[in-house]
Amino acid sequence: MPEPTLEGGPDRRIALVTGASSGIGEATARRLAREPGIELVLVARREERLSSLAESLAVPATCLALDLTDADAPERALEHLSARHDRLDLLVNNAGASWRASFADGGYENVRRTMELNFDSVVRLTEALLPLLRASAPSAIVNVSSTAGRVARAGAGAYSASKFALAGWSDALYAEERAHGVHVGLVLPGFVATEGFPAAELRERALTRWVVSTPERAAEAILDAGLRRTPERYVPRPYGLIAALRAIAPGLVRRVLAGGAAEVMTTSTGADAADLREAGKQSNGERA
Ligand SMILES: NC(=O)c1ccc[n+]([C@@H]2O[C@H](COP(=O)([O-])OP(=O)(O)OC[C@H]3O[C@@H](n4cnc5c(N)ncnc54)[C@H](OP(=O)(O)O)[C@@H]3O)[C@@H](O)[C@H]2O)c1
Repeated sequence: MPEPTLEGGPDRRIALVTGASSGIGEATARRLAREPGIELVLVARREERLSSLAESLAVPATCLALDLTDADAPERALEHLSARHDRLDLLVNNAGASWRASFADGGYENVRRTMELNFDSVVRLTEALLPLLRASAPSAIVNVSSTAGRVARAGAGAYSASKFALAGWSDALYAEERAHGVHVGLVLPGFVATEGFPAAELRERALTRWVVSTPERAAEAILDAGLRRTPERYVPRPYGLIAALRAIAPGLVRRVLAGGAAEVMTTSTGADAADLREAGKQSNGERA
């Protein structure tokens, strides 16, 4: 018997999207708002961004401004849902970031802060909201991993560790929650031009521009994995071939990715730029 999908479910469906203030999360909120009966809960740190997004949508949307790594973040999300919405049909765990550094330079601290946001905060939020998802079944969770959660590159080891962890955990959660009517889908984007991952190095060159996708395509994959219960989706789909090749010919893929030509794949990120701005402010403060 086919699994029930969320399409054609109850008249009112509540979807919570983390990282809704920009990029893939914002595009997902906009795309979900075109679905019948959807009400949105938008989560991220930048409240003004969330409010203006909510105002621009034609469906009911509430905002929850919080840092997902805060100790009380899961509890606050549950309180918000219980007070304003009485159910949860779709949880999109999308918020994430990457701070580029080799292990020798970034060390454990870079791994720790990356895991804290990209893995631990997802697990903690899911733990708090799982009873509500079960009570609202058929419901779904979509975890946004990355192609870097299947194939690792130099300078992005901490990021890959967090996204590999998320992919593995998602498979186990899928198997555990199936009997409870909570589907767990996985989305693995490749390069998608966003504020956090501008991919400027790739977009600048005609030779590599074509590998960069759009937040709207990632949003469509999130809907596939959530509302239509697809097990997993690469964005764009051909990135799945790289993951398959890594499984079949690990030695070959490792050698190619260790070569100089692969350096262009380790693009600088919005999180790196934010760190540089912060360091600049501190050194200006010290000089003042
Ligand atoms: N773009 C790509 O190439 C790509 C590829 C593979 C996977 N991904 C994954 O896709 C997801 C979305 O990334 P994106 O490309 O859309 O990047 P983005 O534009 O930087 O969006 C990241 C979102 O996460 C939120 N966020 C970051 N830290 C947070 C925190 N501590 N607490 C709450 N919210 C936080 C940000 O909002 P605030 O700053 O307002 O908090 C923002 O809304 C991430 O998980 C990323 O790893 C992206």
